[in-house]
Amino acid sequence: MGWPYHVLLRVLFVFLLACHPSLGQPWDGVVITQADYQGLQAFKRGLVDRRGFLRSWNDSGVGACSGGWEGIKCAQGQVISIQLPWRGLGGRISDGIAQLTALRKLNLHDNFIGGAVPSAIGFLPNLRGLYLFNNRLSGTIPRSIASCPLLQTLDLSNNYLRGPIPADIAASTKLYRLNLSHNNLSGGVPIGLAQSPSLTFLSLHHNLLSGNIPDGWGGSSASGSAAHRLQILNLDHNFFTGDLPASLGRLQSLQVVTISNNRINGSIPEDLGNLPVLQRLDISENSIGGGFPASLCNLTSLIELNLEGNLLGDLIPDAIDGLKNLSFLSLKGNRFQGPIPATIGNISGLSRLDLSENNFTGVIPGTLARLTNLSLFNVSDNNLSGEVPSLLSEKFNSSSFRGNLQLCGYKGSPPCPLTPPPSLPPTTMTTPEAPRSGDGHRLSTKDIILIVIGAVLFLLLVLCCVLLICLIRKRTDQSRKSAAAGAASRGEKAAPSSGTEVESGGDTGGKLVHFDGPLVFTADDLLCATAEIMGKSTYGTVYKATLEDGNQVAVKRLREKIAKNQKEFEAEVNVLGKIRHSNLLALRAYYLGPKGEKLLVFDYMPKGSLAAFLHARGPDTPIDWPTRMKIVMGATRGLHHLHTHENMVHGNLTSGNILLDEQVNAKIADYGLSRLMSAAANSNVIATAGALGYRAPELSKLKKASVKTDVYSLGVVMLELLTGKSPGEAMNGVDLPQWVASIVKEEWTNEVFDLELMRDAEGTTGDELLNTLKLALHCVDPSAAARPEAQQILQQLEEIKPELAGTSPAAPSSAANGGGDDDEKNPAGGGSTSPPTDDDQKS
Ligand SMILES: *[C@@H]1O[C@H](CO)[C@@H](O)[C@H](O)[C@H]1NC(C)=O
Ligand SMILES: *[C@@H]1O[C@H](CO)[C@@H](O)[C@H](O)[C@H]1NC(C)=O
Ligand SMILES: *[C@@H]1O[C@H](CO)[C@@H](O)[C@H](O)[C@H]1NC(C)=O
Ligand SMILES: *[C@@H]1O[C@H](CO)[C@@H](O)[C@H](O)[C@H]1NC(C)=O
Ligand SMILES: *[C@@H]1O[C@H](CO)[C@@H](O)[C@H](O)[C@H]1NC(C)=O
Ligand SMILES: *[C@@H]1O[C@H](CO)[C@@H](O)[C@H](O)[C@H]1NC(C)=O
Ligand SMILES: *[C@@H]1O[C@H](CO)[C@@H](O)[C@H](O)[C@H]1NC(C)=O
Ligand SMILES: *[C@@H]1O[C@H](CO)[C@@H](O)[C@H](O)[C@H]1NC(C)=O
Ligand SMILES: *[C@@H]1O[C@H](CO)[C@@H](O)[C@H](O)[C@H]1NC(C)=O
Ligand SMILES: *[C@@H]1O[C@H](CO)[C@@H](O)[C@H](O)[C@H]1NC(C)=O
Ligand SMILES: *[C@@H]1O[C@H](CO)[C@@H](O)[C@H](O)[C@H]1NC(C)=O
Ligand SMILES: *[C@@H]1O[C@H](CO)[C@@H](O)[C@H](O)[C@H]1NC(C)=O
Repeated sequence: MGWPYHVLLRVLFVFLLACHPSLGQPWDGVVITQADYQGLQAFKRGLVDRRGFLRSWNDSGVGACSGGWEGIKCAQGQVISIQLPWRGLGGRISDGIAQLTALRKLNLHDNFIGGAVPSAIGFLPNLRGLYLFNNRLSGTIPRSIASCPLLQTLDLSNNYLRGPIPADIAASTKLYRLNLSHNNLSGGVPIGLAQSPSLTFLSLHHNLLSGNIPDGWGGSSASGSAAHRLQILNLDHNFFTGDLPASLGRLQSLQVVTISNNRINGSIPEDLGNLPVLQRLDISENSIGGGFPASLCNLTSLIELNLEGNLLGDLIPDAIDGLKNLSFLSLKGNRFQGPIPATIGNISGLSRLDLSENNFTGVIPGTLARLTNLSLFNVSDNNLSGEVPSLLSEKFNSSSFRGNLQLCGYKGSPPCPLTPPPSLPPTTMTTPEAPRSGDGHRLSTKDIILIVIGAVLFLLLVLCCVLLICLIRKRTDQSRKSAAAGAASRGEKAAPSSGTEVESGGDTGGKLVHFDGPLVFTADDLLCATAEIMGKSTYGTVYKATLEDGNQVAVKRLREKIAKNQKEFEAEVNVLGKIRHSNLLALRAYYLGPKGEKLLVFDYMPKGSLAAFLHARGPDTPIDWPTRMKIVMGATRGLHHLHTHENMVHGNLTSGNILLDEQVNAKIADYGLSRLMSAAANSNVIATAGALGYRAPELSKLKKASVKTDVYSLGVVMLELLTGKSPGEAMNGVDLPQWVASIVKEEWTNEVFDLELMRDAEGTTGDELLNTLKLALHCVDPSAAARPEAQQILQQLEEIKPELAGTSPAAPSSAANGGGDDDEKNPAGGGSTSPPTDDDQKS
């Protein structure tokens, strides 16, 4: 890469600049600077691009910053990110990279790039993320990397790097993810890493690291709260020696610790029992001695505890059932002795229990048979005696019990003696714990069989009774068909238990009015539907009703005496019933009962509210970014339609009344309801309008909802989707917008996002997250005037994720014919948006 060539290129470039017709004003600002152009060219020359992904990096340079060059993003003519993962690239990373002084992110993971990590990386003052994992990099990690003051993520895992971890690396005060696992690094762990105030993920596993694990984790105890960020610490498969440092107990955010397969000795420090959110502790395959510290029983959030293959002895504390959330427990290959604590039977979620190769004595406690989720159980190679509880011997074969000389009653074992007493005395005399558990056990095995038989008989009896009662009830129900008004017209009668039938007839002179929609039902159908309470709100109770034909609708029963008088009510409800938009929950019908009861019938949304979808799910049901973005866009479209086409303010937008259909399309509910209410009722409700956490600040003074207060609420919903946090969740007493703003201000932006999203925040997703975050913060601006209109929000969202821009209107998600776009207020199809038909007036 001699200079003459560069000069030549420069000349060529200038020439192109001057001549290219499209380089007029419209392209200004996207023309790449010369330094960056040269840097990219040098970078390309260093690589071997067998599959031709870099073909678009051709010599004109014109497209480099306008999206023409694969994997390149620019700002003001300078390259800010290079992202080329999984491109089959070989070769090496050129020193020319140093010319890209604005570079923030270099992402080349999963290629075949060899050579060294260039020390020129240190010349990149803006570098925030370096993702070079799964390559063939060799040599040592350049010390210069510590000169990148803004570095947040450094992932060089799974390469051929050797030599020490540069001590200076800990000087990067923003570093929060450091992954050097699966290399051949040697030497020790720099003490600075243990004391880093910013590190959140530290993975050094599968290396050749040695020496003591440094002490001083979490900084000095006096240095306070900032030094407790570490969540994940992986040091397994190295050659560490010495003790487990007690200071690990200071890392209050620690969730995962793996130090298995090292040469650690000493004992388990009591302090490890102080970790309030620890979920996984794996220190297996070391030489750790001592006992099982009682303090470990305080780890209530622990899910996996692996102490396999050490020298640990003595008794297991009875308090072990303090590990309430434990699912995996392995004590295999230690020297534990004494009885197996009966309290293990209290750890109801236990699925894998391995106690093999120890020196446990006494019997297998009958309480272990309670562990219904047990899929692995192993007590082989101990010194156990007595009879295996029958439920365990049925479920597990001899491989789980072998190697216990006096154990009997499992498949393939010698039969248990018919007269138990003789076999027990030896055990009962030598181990003080045995008599207690032994007696209890013998009683309970027999008893268990009797109890089980008894229980089965009893259950059968109960079943028969229930069936009988059902039959009788069904008959009386049928004969009561014409009885008085049902629960819906009788008030809260249906309320107490879910699944209550809202029975009875429409023979009381009510009035049902349909708006357009696919559902056909009569007042009788509605009142006889099976109904379950879904929730209660300021305006009334919502039921899920299953009609005779199996269709489901949501029925809102308005609270008594808060609605307008019948005439005004009908005028308003007829307006609401005509609103049709694919992101607004459609009002399908209303019913006026003879005593003034008012029911509103809406589409039923099987997936429930966004709040439940987002906050009440299991850890194994992640929600990916495109889905979240789709929800944001849908909600924005709905709000935009409400504001511009219906001239209506929502006033109480929350994640609780954004509902989701089967395809996770957002549908805003509860709009316009205040129009149905009397002035008196509304003045009461307005005072509390805008759910806590979603209320724009000005609402506390003005008490008047506006399009801008709606935009604020929408902004909070966006933040909810970005952070995964609910506005109700306490974040040191500040609300969600303030919390986010405070973190962004400290340039901890990445910390804001839901961890789930960070997992795939590679590539463009990262930028989408950032841009959406900016937009959300704009929406929750304390000054109402500064907030964008729904229209502008929509536009920006479509720019951020163009691939979703056209989807919603076309999506035939709403079975109804109301799935039009914003401007299609009265879509073709039903045509019945004309005056409501008094479809059904039962008498
Ligand atoms: C450069 O690459 C772009 C994108 O692949 C292509 O459109 C253009 O024709 C190429 N120009 C030259 C001079 O090869
Ligand atoms: C570190 O890298 C390894 C190998 O690439 C990967 O499996 C692991 O998930 C990474 N750990 C963290 C905390 O990023
Ligand atoms: C890593 O070190 C081990 C042990 O010294 C050696 O056998 C292996 O070849 C090394 N691997 C690489 C990729 O350097
Ligand atoms: C732990 O191992 C180190 C050497 O690695 C040795 O010096 C020390 O005595 C051992 N301690 C115990 C308690 O065995
Ligand atoms: C933790 O365990 C120790 C020892 O069992 C006990 O004294 C202490 O009270 C426990 N602490 C908490 C917070 O439960
Ligand atoms: C135990 O696990 C459940 C479900 O995973 C979780 O909700 C709960 O917070 C956990 N308990 C603790 C103390 O972490
Ligand atoms: C735990 O198990 C023991 C022995 O089986 C029992 O006595 C105790 O009541 C149980 N404790 C709880 C909280 O279930
Ligand atoms: C047993 O496992 C099932 C399925 O994994 C789970 O739903 C259930 O909660 C578990 N039971 C207990 C008591 O943890
Ligand atoms: C098991 O415990 C007994 C009595 O406590 C002891 O005599 C024996 O040596 C122990 N065996 C092992 C392998 O630790
Ligand atoms: C089993 O326990 C008995 C009684 O405690 C003891 O005498 C014997 O040595 C133990 N056997 C082994 C193999 O540890
Ligand atoms: C016992 O069950 C395990 C699975 O739990 C199976 O792998 C093993 O082959 C079985 N052994 C015998 C002897 O049946
Ligand atoms: C139980 O443990 C023994 C000894 O560790 C092992 O040989 C056997 O395969 C294990 N059996 C099962 C079912 O895990």
